[in-house]
Amino acid sequence: MGLEFNLTLKAEDIVPIRDLVLEVSGVYFDENKFYFIEKRITKRMKATNSSSAKEYYRLIKFAEDKKELDELIVSLTTNETYFYRNIPQLESFAEEALPLILAEKRKKKDFRLKIWSAACSSGDEPYTVYILLKENVPDFSKWKIEIVGTDIDHYILEKARKGCYDRRAVKDIPAKILSQYFVEESGLFKIHDEAKKYVEFRKVNLMDRREMRRFSEMDFVFCRNVLIYFDADSRKEVVNRIYDSLNKGGFIFLGHSESVGKLSAAFKLVKFNKSLSYQK
Ligand SMILES: C[S@@+](CC[C@H](N)C(=O)[O-])C[C@H]1O[C@@H](n2cnc3c(N)ncnc32)[C@H](O)[C@@H]1O
Repeated sequence: MGLEFNLTLKAEDIVPIRDLVLEVSGVYFDENKFYFIEKRITKRMKATNSSSAKEYYRLIKFAEDKKELDELIVSLTTNETYFYRNIPQLESFAEEALPLILAEKRKKKDFRLKIWSAACSSGDEPYTVYILLKENVPDFSKWKIEIVGTDIDHYILEKARKGCYDRRAVKDIPAKILSQYFVEESGLFKIHDEAKKYVEFRKVNLMDRREMRRFSEMDFVFCRNVLIYFDADSRKEVVNRIYDSLNKGGFIFLGHSESVGKLSAAFKLVKFNKSLSYQK
């Protein structure tokens, strides 16, 4: 294989590791990304004193605890996120989808609202959802609101729990909202503790069937900018599990370039004024 030329590791060493990462996390690297994945693998090999790629593979495949496999996966995933990401979509959520669900629930006198930010990274997305609810649900205090943010990366979830962000992360938040929900300390922006009463964080792998089954009765699921890193089969699996977690009438919001179309025929496409969504 021509690619082997530029690599310290051979493609035949990388493939089984790449395949194990895919099997466990859904994240897929084709050969064009071997240069990137090779750098991360060699770094982890050094950290674990593995003398060869084969030895490292045995460690991640057969070790009783999955700590090193976790470390590798975390080192291979992208945590890029920020508050108010994809504003047109968030406006569709707050101005169109949310009032629909609230009206339905009010009719049934069911004042519970459950929202899941699946693959939430440092928490910017679930905290954004909290702010949007505070701003758009007139009788907020009447509702039992649960927002859960999950991610495979336990380091990034620690950051999410702290709720402390640099200027880049908050740059798209309207100034009035920023001063209302955050305190600025030494150039960092800390979300008010009040938000943490509503937003809970848990380590969950989207490919773990058992963990995924624990999620149910969701009104909204945000699963944005993660499935782009998955292969087609894993994407389908995740979307189907999210479908199962939703209430009838609940919505899934995907990332900008992602679509449920090819993944599941079960969802109904909903065209809001500013973006598309899918409804169970
Ligand atoms: C680019 S961030 C997206 C964050 C946020 N949803 C957004 O759109 O701004 C992708 C996140 O997916 C997480 N991730 C990747 N594979 C995952 C898996 N199998 N299960 C859960 N989270 C995963 C990564 O750790 C990372 O934090």
